[in-house]
Amino acid sequence: MQVFRTVSELRQCSREQRKNGSTIALVPTMGALHAGHASLIRAARDSGALVAVSIFVNPTQFGPNEDYATYPRSFDADCALAQSQGASVVFAPSVDELYPAGAATFVEVEGLSNRLDGLSRPGHFRGVSTVVTKLLLAAEPDLAFFGQKDAAQVAVLRRMVTDLRLESKIVVCPIVREPDGLALSSRNVFLSPAERAQALSLSRAIHRAEEMIAEGERTAGLLISAAREIFAAQPDVSVDYIELVDWATLEPIRTAAPGSLFAVAAWVGATRLIDNAILA
Ligand code: PAJ
Repeated sequence: MQVFRTVSELRQCSREQRKNGSTIALVPTMGALHAGHASLIRAARDSGALVAVSIFVNPTQFGPNEDYATYPRSFDADCALAQSQGASVVFAPSVDELYPAGAATFVEVEGLSNRLDGLSRPGHFRGVSTVVTKLLLAAEPDLAFFGQKDAAQVAVLRRMVTDLRLESKIVVCPIVREPDGLALSSRNVFLSPAERAQALSLSRAIHRAEEMIAEGERTAGLLISAAREIFAAQPDVSVDYIELVDWATLEPIRTAAPGSLFAVAAWVGATRLIDNAILA
């Protein structure tokens, strides 16, 4: 496995491999890789493509009071995991490589970037769109793999790829969970044992909504209040949002329909977690 630190090395490798007949897959990450990331890397490998994993904790997607400085970093273990799952390339640029001194160019998907996580994390999706554009321009992948775990991020990036007529196809992979239901997240390491137990309220709230829908309930208000009750029982959990939205526009909808997105975000102690389901 090769490790590249510069855009030009990655771009050159991608172009050479394509000339030799390979398709290229990119798996963008911020490192601290876990089984959720591993599932994306395996899906990319199973597509038959040459797999590049980017590892970059992107400063522009963190707010001034967020956890950029303390975000978990584990580069050596990440490289070992990426390689074991079939990656041929790790792209790990410095901040200066992706944001040269004086960098003043940003990509903003209007409207969508101010919904769900974008509403409570102003500027977050501008940072995500900007860095993913830079990564796609650097790797020029045929396929780019993302997790449904960050469903609003997927909606923003799909819009962006369409609007910019980028040639990479976005592939979305299912949420990987712990055996008890907690969605894997690099931020789970911040949870104390007591918080870890209360964090299960997110997956329970999602599961409850899915159950109600299976029983025939369709009204957004009732699905949302059932979820709210589950959170209310947890003293250290404070809800950021519980929403039923159209997955493409992220606009709230009143009646659940196939393909709509039921999404929750909550603070568990000082850690913000998200979870969701795409309705069957
Ligand atoms: P990060 O949080 O490291 O996630 C990288 C990718 O892994 C994302 O597409 C995310 O949805 C996926 N992922 C995380 N947890 C998952 C889980 N439990 N199951 C399945 N997939 C999961 O998302 C980002 O980084 C950044 O915003 C990034 C796109 C890299 C831009 O900086």
